[in-house]
Order: sequence, then C-alpha cells, then structure tokens
Amino acid sequence: MVSIDLITLRPMTLVDIEAVLAIERQVQYAPWTHQLFVDSLERHLCWVAEQQSSVVGFLVVQFIVDEAHLLNIAVEPLQQKQGIGRILLNAVQQQSRLKKANTIFLEVRAGNKRAISLYQMAGFNEIGLRKNYYPAAQAKEDAVIMALMLF
Ligand SMILES: CC(C)(COP(=O)(O)OP(=O)(O)OC[C@H]1O[C@@H](n2cnc3c(N)ncnc32)[C@H](O)[C@@H]1OP(=O)(O)O)[C@@H](O)C(=O)NCCC(=O)NCCS
Repeated sequence: MVSIDLITLRPMTLVDIEAVLAIERQVQYAPWTHQLFVDSLERHLCWVAEQQSSVVGFLVVQFIVDEAHLLNIAVEPLQQKQGIGRILLNAVQQQSRLKKANTIFLEVRAGNKRAISLYQMAGFNEIGLRKNYYPAAQAKEDAVIMALMLF
C-alpha cells in the first residue's frame, strides 16, 4: 500500500485551467483545447484533485437527462498509480447519484489498459465498440464504450 498526502476534490475554476491543460497535454494524444475546458466549466461538472495546493488530476462529467457521461479524467503522470484516479472516479459516481443519473457512460481507447482496469474495478461493463474512433500515430484506434448502472 502506498500512503499519499491528502487529496482534496473541489470544483475547477478558470484559474485552474492552465494546470489542467499541463496535465491534459502530457497524457492525451489529441488534448482538449483551453477553450474546450472554458466551455466545459459553463456546461458540465468539472472538478480538480489537489494535493498540497497543486492540481494533480481532474474530471469532466456531462449530465444529459438521466445519463452521466464521463468526458474526461486524468491524473498527473508522476502522481499516477497512487489511487487518485480511483478517488476521482468515486466522485463521478457520487455526483452522478446525487444528480439522479441512472447510468454513467464513457468511451476509452481500446489500448488504454490502465483506464479500462480502473473502470472495470469500479463496476463498469463494456457495452460496445466504435471502430477506428480515436486519432493515433499509426492506424486509428477503437473506442470501447463502457457503462455503469447506478439504480
Ligand atoms: C486512467 C488514470 C486516470 C488512472 O489514474 P491513477 O491515479 O493512475 O489510477 P489509480 O492509481 O487510482 O489506479 C486505480 C486502478 O487502475 C489500475 N491501474 C493503475 N495503474 C495501473 C497500471 N500501471 N497498469 C494496470 N492497471 C493500473 C488498477 O486497476 C488500479 O487499481 P489498484 O489499486 O489495484 O492498483 C490515469 O492513468 C491517467 O490519467 N491516464 C491518462 C489519461 C487517461 O487515459 N484518461 C482516461 C481516458 S478514458
């Protein structure tokens, strides 16, 4: 077991976007833009995970009627594998229940084994596949669609 400093979750603000982008650009092949995060702040649930006043992760969830869609989740590379992703995902589930969402949906690159195992551990099941969905260096990569029923 690894002990980590206290992780605090709080709503993302405009001030956080540079730190969030710094993470996003390190972990995504096709990172979101600054504007996409600004728009998300207005439209979606956006939270950051903080450790010793530094942003170490974030989540973005869209709510549509009784569905929650996990649009983005990431942890700063040097802080991964310590349970922060799981803490963020727990928050996604908790907030989705509070907002009375029946199901949480997400899409993940078929090759993203770490994220897929995190989602499976949280109870998500694979419900579909979008062929050649994600841009990639070589051929395009499939998207696995996963869902977690809440109620
Ligand atoms: C996916 C991601 C958010 C996970 O964050 P994290 O903080 O590393 O996750 P955790 O430490 O909470 O790990 C939770 C579980 O993920 C899985 N996991 C973590 N690191 C892993 C690794 N190196 N190999 C395989 N599985 C791993 C394990 O099931 C782990 O459970 P454990 O407690 O038994 O180790 C993080 O890897 C990330 O930011 N990746 C880049 C962005 C991304 O892919 N986002 C998802 C897009 S759909």
